[in-house]
Amino acid sequence: MAYDTPKVPNDLSAFWMPFTANRQFKKNPRMFVSADGMYYKTADGRDVLDGTAGLWCVNAGHNRPLITEAIQKQAAELDYAPAFQMGHPKAFELATAIRDMAPDPFEHVFFTNSGSESVETALKIALAYHRVRGEGTRTRLIGRERGYHGVNFGGISVGGIVNNRKFFGSLLTGVDHLPHTHLPDQNSFVRGQPEHGAYLAEDLERIVALHGGDNIAAVIVEPMAGSTGVLMPPKGYLEKLREICTKHGILLIFDEVITGFGRLGSSFAAEHFGVMPDLITTAKGLTNGVIPMGAVLATSKIHDAFMSGPEEAIELFHGYTYSGNPIASAAGLATLRTYREDGLFENAAGLANYWEDALHSLKGLPHVIDIRNMGLIGAIELEGIEGAPTKRAFNAFLQAYDKGLLIRTTGDIIALSPPLMINKAQIDELFGILADVLKNLD
Ligand SMILES: Cc1ncc(COP(=O)(O)O)c(C=O)c1O
Repeated sequence: MAYDTPKVPNDLSAFWMPFTANRQFKKNPRMFVSADGMYYKTADGRDVLDGTAGLWCVNAGHNRPLITEAIQKQAAELDYAPAFQMGHPKAFELATAIRDMAPDPFEHVFFTNSGSESVETALKIALAYHRVRGEGTRTRLIGRERGYHGVNFGGISVGGIVNNRKFFGSLLTGVDHLPHTHLPDQNSFVRGQPEHGAYLAEDLERIVALHGGDNIAAVIVEPMAGSTGVLMPPKGYLEKLREICTKHGILLIFDEVITGFGRLGSSFAAEHFGVMPDLITTAKGLTNGVIPMGAVLATSKIHDAFMSGPEEAIELFHGYTYSGNPIASAAGLATLRTYREDGLFENAAGLANYWEDALHSLKGLPHVIDIRNMGLIGAIELEGIEGAPTKRAFNAFLQAYDKGLLIRTTGDIIALSPPLMINKAQIDELFGILADVLKNLD
């Protein structure tokens, strides 16, 4: 890859960086200046293997020609069209393409600009759905401990990560949480779905007994919890949640912002686990992370409930200036085409066992207390340093970066989710670097 002169700006003070230790970063900045395929290039000219698909989003790998060309062409052809009461072809084409790759019941697509917005949209659709059907008492929302549903108020209210919640006031009222499914004593070093924990879904019956099922609008969970440090659903857990939701007329929302678009080797986790929710939230892999875009997938049952009343009346008072933005839509279409033409979901599925073996070969290295995996996702849980939680994993992150590998850490857990174009040699490279880091970690 061509690389000229370092492009690090002199002044880093103005940019207040998201989810970043700003002072630490600015003292010792880590800058990517270009990317191609599986690798980033740093400002000091080093290649860094992308072990995290950016932030779980660059599923097709970097600098994919179809996507780049589609964006360039669309910018010159139709840069923006109003999203309300007006349309443009690409948004409709993309919605159809998403519908065609989604499991059967998902016939309709509502566009957003991020995972957080998809979550807000899904929660609002769920509330409004009950209301338009005359069940307006269904206002309560149920999330889960350790859940991550983005950073807006609905998402942090149903989410269950304490630091994302505790600084921000009283949040939404009328929210309950299911228990998380992390059972380290029963499930450790498990390959795929753990055996123990399906019973945790039954806590929903407790919440129903407390509030009355007809006061509950929706349950939202990540089918595979990513940001909390990668927790696979115990066998039977999602099935049980589905069963209880159906029994009480509660909508089930799967937050597939991470699992959507091939991460588990199928288009969506719903398909992978064979459990159908009522709404699916997506973002990230929809446009390969290149242009912000998200989407909520809805069944006809949900969508059609809104399609009554006078035809000239707006059915859902919700939407964003950039819902279905033309350039994002073009990027989405080209991304889905890239997945299809390069067989990337099949590649992810085909490499899952190789990935699993390579990941679990790290068992026994210093400080490693658990390893979890599914599809092209892996987690390595480290024993925290006494009195300094997160420090050990963050040190691993810094050392991996220095050694040419991008990993992601939450708490003392290392999460891995490479682009789906990865091959066996790159899997070996990734775990070779990581083993080296772990062997030398304090
Ligand atoms: C499950 C889940 N939901 C929502 C989000 C929020 O997405 P965004 O950062 O695009 O708002 C994320 C981001 O990682 C996520 O993992």
